[in-house]
Amino acid sequence: MGLRDDIAKVLIPEQDLQARVAELAQAINATYTDDDCPLLVCVLKGAFVFLADLTRHLAMRHEVDFMEVSSYGAGTKSSGVVRILLDLEQNIEGRHVLVVEDIVDSGRTLQYITRNLQTRKPASLRVCALLSKPSRREVEVPLDFVGFEVPDEFVVGYGLDFGEEYRNLPFIGVLKEEVCAR
Ligand code: PRP
Repeated sequence: MGLRDDIAKVLIPEQDLQARVAELAQAINATYTDDDCPLLVCVLKGAFVFLADLTRHLAMRHEVDFMEVSSYGAGTKSSGVVRILLDLEQNIEGRHVLVVEDIVDSGRTLQYITRNLQTRKPASLRVCALLSKPSRREVEVPLDFVGFEVPDEFVVGYGLDFGEEYRNLPFIGVLKEEVCAR
C-alpha cells in the first residue's frame, strides 16, 4: 500500500496546480519591481513546495526567508494559539514582504504572523496563499493573492501533511476517512 492508496479523491490535479502557480507568479510579477526586491516569507513547513515552484516563476529580484510557527494541539484543527518555532533571519524594516502560505483555514495563524511582522515596520506586507477555506474562517485576514478556494475537507499533498506525511504528493487530495481516523 502506497501513499496514494490513502487518497479518496484528487481535488486539484498537478497540472491545474502548476498552471495556477504560474498565474499567481504573473500577478506577483506585476506587483513588484526589481527595486522593490521583495522578501518572500515562507511559512514552514507546509509552504515549502509552493514557494519552491513560485520562486522559479518570479521575474523580479527577490529574496526568500523562512519562518515556522506552530499552533498548539494536535489533530486536524488549529487551536488558534500560535508560537514562533523559527524566526526570520532578515530584518524586514523598510522591506517589501510577501508572506507565502499553503492554506488559510481559521485564519488565526496568518493573523498572528501578519500582526507580528507588521510590528517590524516593513515597507509593505502582502499575503499569497495557495489555498483558502473560506467556510472555516474565524478571523478576517486579507489575502492579496489566492490560488484556489477549497471546501471544508481534509486536504493533503503539495506541502500539506497529515501526521507529517503526504507532503510530497504532487497534487492536492482528500484523505480517506479511515486514514484520518487512524
Ligand atoms: C497549517 C497551514 C497554516 C495553518 C492554517 O499549518 O500551513 O499555517 O495551518 O490554519 P489556520 O488558518 O486555522 O490558522 P500547520 O499547523 O498544519 O503546520 P505545517 O505547515 O508545518 O504542516
